[in-house]
Amino acid sequence: MTAKSARVRQYLMCRPAYFTVEYAINPWMDTTTPVDTERAVDQWENLVSVLRGHGHTVHELRPEAGLPDMVFAANGGFVVDDAVYGAKFRFPQRQAEAAAHEKWYRDAEWTFTTPTETNEGEGDFAYVPGPGLILAGYGFRTDPRGHAEAGESLKRPVISLKLTDPRFYHLDTALTVLDDDTIAYYPHAFSLSSQAVLRQLFPDAVVADEADAMAFGLNTVSDDRHVYINTEATGMADKLAARGYEPIAVDLSELKKGGGSVKCCIAELRG
Ligand code: ARG
Repeated sequence: MTAKSARVRQYLMCRPAYFTVEYAINPWMDTTTPVDTERAVDQWENLVSVLRGHGHTVHELRPEAGLPDMVFAANGGFVVDDAVYGAKFRFPQRQAEAAAHEKWYRDAEWTFTTPTETNEGEGDFAYVPGPGLILAGYGFRTDPRGHAEAGESLKRPVISLKLTDPRFYHLDTALTVLDDDTIAYYPHAFSLSSQAVLRQLFPDAVVADEADAMAFGLNTVSDDRHVYINTEATGMADKLAARGYEPIAVDLSELKKGGGSVKCCIAELRG
């Protein structure tokens, strides 16, 4: 097995200064569970310093009071080659986040498309650089019409994949891109037809099981070598190591109460 080499990335993240669980819009959220916001911030800061320690650039989006899920910055847009397809959130509780992201991207002079269709950014979109393909999830949050709109805005072919298990309500809870051509995914989060599509396109994928997905082991970010992964996902970390990746465990237990982990916190700025 040849050693994999990392490529430095640019990320957009948002400090969980106002993180709470005050509404429940996915099965992980329970408004009666106490949340330690300070601990969430500490864990998030650790993730940021781990990423920076590996040479990556982390830009910060300013958190806003009253938007407790804003920490899940992946949902605010989807970036491919300097172009950004903006988000339009499914639930009213998160809708105001979209404008904050749009402002950040426009201020930083990215080419930005304001969407007309419901879509939750990189939560439901993934980019596979080798074939230049967008993988797009639907079934819970993003409207399939948003897939077509993303393809138009970003000038890339889009493969629509149907999510069927409410625990894995965003694509990034069930599938992750590890390098230019390799993905990992949990087949049973998808319809049988979408499983067939994934098998056809990615015969060499790392296949995860239910325990891996439940530990948020697919909600990872890779720099082609290091895979930043939730500490609980030990089984998935072993599978990645067996394929030559270097798993870097980070504890995000507080944010898991909101239904998210590493990937949900990070929007990749592909420029
Ligand atoms: N509480 C948030 C929601 O349900 C969690 C979002 C997680 N983000 C993600 N990219 N999967 O919208």
